[in-house]
Amino acid sequence: MKFLVTGGAGFIGGNFIHYMVNKYPEDTIVNLDKLTYAGNLETCKPVEDKPNYKFYKGDIADRAFIFDLFEKERFDIVVNFAAESHVDRSIEDPEIFVKTNVLGTTTLLDACVKYGIQRYHQVSTDEVYGDLPLDRPDLFFTETTPLHTSSPYSSAKAAADLFVLAYHRTYGLPVTISRCSNNYGPYHFPEKLIPLMISRALANESLPVYGDGANVRDWLHVYDHCTAIDLIIRQGKNGEVYNVGGHNERSNLEVVKTILKALNKPESLIRFVEDRKGHDRRYAIDPTKLETELGWKPKYTFDTGIQQTIQWYLENKEWWQNILSGEYQDYFDKMYAKKIDG
Ligand code: NAD
Ligand code: DAU
Repeated sequence: MKFLVTGGAGFIGGNFIHYMVNKYPEDTIVNLDKLTYAGNLETCKPVEDKPNYKFYKGDIADRAFIFDLFEKERFDIVVNFAAESHVDRSIEDPEIFVKTNVLGTTTLLDACVKYGIQRYHQVSTDEVYGDLPLDRPDLFFTETTPLHTSSPYSSAKAAADLFVLAYHRTYGLPVTISRCSNNYGPYHFPEKLIPLMISRALANESLPVYGDGANVRDWLHVYDHCTAIDLIIRQGKNGEVYNVGGHNERSNLEVVKTILKALNKPESLIRFVEDRKGHDRRYAIDPTKLETELGWKPKYTFDTGIQQTIQWYLENKEWWQNILSGEYQDYFDKMYAKKIDG
């Protein structure tokens, strides 16, 4: 089978490419990535010489390019990871989120309809459900929780989900959607909480915690997200949504303190800074459908996964230090200058 994986030079897409290329040598895995600031071909280095791997640089929202690619490659299955993924950037500049996350998705869907693919899989997020209150630990997101977004990022992801389901109903396109909680693990871009805190703690720099640090995320190791997607594209029911994650809830402050402890760094590095606008309080996934219908079982708990991840960052300094020395530094200075110094 021939797979198109979009966004495969990013964090989760890159991990998925590694997983698929190694697990299924008889399949061809084609990686399409625009190589935005978040795309990094260093992430694909471990598989770039494998005979079942191929890379194209291109934009999922570029209709002419996408249709030419589908004509040439005749994919069986499309897995769409490509997106603008950072909430803080979406608050600063929403437009590119509409272009890539919505228009990019509909462009891929149009090509999938024209070329009659077997399955289109949309990699979505638990953020489409909005947030849960901190004082109701009994509440979880299920697949039927209404969409109720907070940020431009999550709104664009929710819009994309609705288009995916509309293409299924209207044109009969075979689709599935996964809505996953916060991922962490190797190759995570250091603008996101966990890699940001690891890289800054190692440099003895201040750790910017938004608001009171009590916001809760439900952390899933990226490897477990990959196994879930693999299962859903092969055994998931056409037209269905599957939640991925569950029961690894931690407050941001707990996460930061865990990292500091593992690195033997002092808690005095923590700085409470201005809160994110519209900051979601708590995410918590109910993964019952995926576990009972498809038999998915995660390999990592947060406690085992975070130690493996910290170890990876210690052993792969070159990967993330190259990023920190580039245009990322300008982004960090612009985004955090007021928060940290002001
Ligand atoms: P990322 O920002 O690390 O990677 C995104 C990749 O997409 C990059 O390689 C980038 O170059 C590429 N890209 C961006 N715009 C593109 C375009 N127009 N055309 C082609 N490629 C483009 O993101 P991530 O954290 O790996 O997230 C991947 C997907 O998973 C996203 O759809 C995101 O919404 C979803 N998701 C992420 C998480 C998480 O915790 N990171 C959780 C749930 C769902
Ligand atoms: O839930 C899934 C989502 O998880 C994905 O859809 C997104 O693509 C992904 O970026 C992630 O979104 P979050 O906003 O939850 O992740 P982020 O790492 O940006 O922030 C995690 C929490 O940490 C959040 O409550 C904000 C807080 N935070 C973040 C940064 C970058 C801080 O306190 N300080 C920081 O510097």
